[in-house]
Amino acid sequence: MIDKTTMIEELKEKLQSLSTIQEVQNIKAQYFGKKGQITALMKNIGRIEPEKKKEYGMQVNELKQEIERLLNGKLDEIKKEIKKQEELKNWVDVTAHGAERSFGKEHLIAKTIRDIYEIFTQFGFTVVEGPEIEEPWFNFDALNTPEWHPAREMQDTFYLEDDLLLRTHTSAVQIRTMLKEEPPLAIISSGRTYRKDEIDATHSAMFHQLECLFIDKKVTVGNLKMFLEQLTKKIFDNEDTKVLLRPSYFPFVEPGFEVDVSCMNCGGKGCNVCKGTGWIEVLGAGLVHPKVLENVGYDPEKWQGFAFGVGVERIAMLKYGISNMRELYKNDIRFID
Ligand code: DAH
Repeated sequence: MIDKTTMIEELKEKLQSLSTIQEVQNIKAQYFGKKGQITALMKNIGRIEPEKKKEYGMQVNELKQEIERLLNGKLDEIKKEIKKQEELKNWVDVTAHGAERSFGKEHLIAKTIRDIYEIFTQFGFTVVEGPEIEEPWFNFDALNTPEWHPAREMQDTFYLEDDLLLRTHTSAVQIRTMLKEEPPLAIISSGRTYRKDEIDATHSAMFHQLECLFIDKKVTVGNLKMFLEQLTKKIFDNEDTKVLLRPSYFPFVEPGFEVDVSCMNCGGKGCNVCKGTGWIEVLGAGLVHPKVLENVGYDPEKWQGFAFGVGVERIAMLKYGISNMRELYKNDIRFID
């Protein structure tokens, strides 16, 4: 009555080439749509002789179920394939290396401080810290610079409430450390310092200093000079670096010196960096004043020491050939990238 096998075989063949849901739906319509083959067979039942109706009905039903099974199977197959393609598209290789990113590097001020710390710690010095907001006594009085002292005016600064100020130099850390520790001492400290300075190519209202204090028995200018020579050779990475001590005045040292190093640009012959002199001023130094030792309760007959303070920006500018200090604060990406 119904050639079931041929119909199923035909369908199987048709299904093979299908790849979209729409295509399967179209085929489905060919069987179950208004003019579909199964629909036609069902409608036909009225014309079947009564005794064959049951048999016919069963066959149509079987055929209908088989066709549905095949069509649904194909639909499932296509849906699975779509899902697989979707997953492939969104696939992430979690083991893959990330894109290269530049993390930048240390700012030249931070690098200069760290490099100098490294040299000092090799010499056995300890790093200490002090506050940027300071009491006048630590910043001035204890450093032998009482209120009437003219040197105090040269380091005018920003005053805060409760008689506090922004420290004008890191020398205040000398006092804080000596009050806490017993001699001998070998310390360095660094950080921000402030002055009421006009900003220009070599001045800023905020800058960084690095302070060194060495206290022991029988410390001489010879010790200071030798130490400065070793230190500046390492800082400027040049064994030929020479040091020149010129007498100068700082209230907290006696004798006091301005310290020059041989010009790293011309080696001492004279050029535009050293203004033809062959020397470049880099720091202030001296032997710790007996009054300062007394102020912190050290016996000046027993203990002596040397100290010096250096501008970090100045060292960084000389080392890396920067002519304008403001470049260091401008956030120019080339300084940190
Ligand atoms: N504190 C001085 C300044 O800011 C620099 C200085 C000079 C520091 C002599 C010292 C020193 O420790 O001994 O100008």
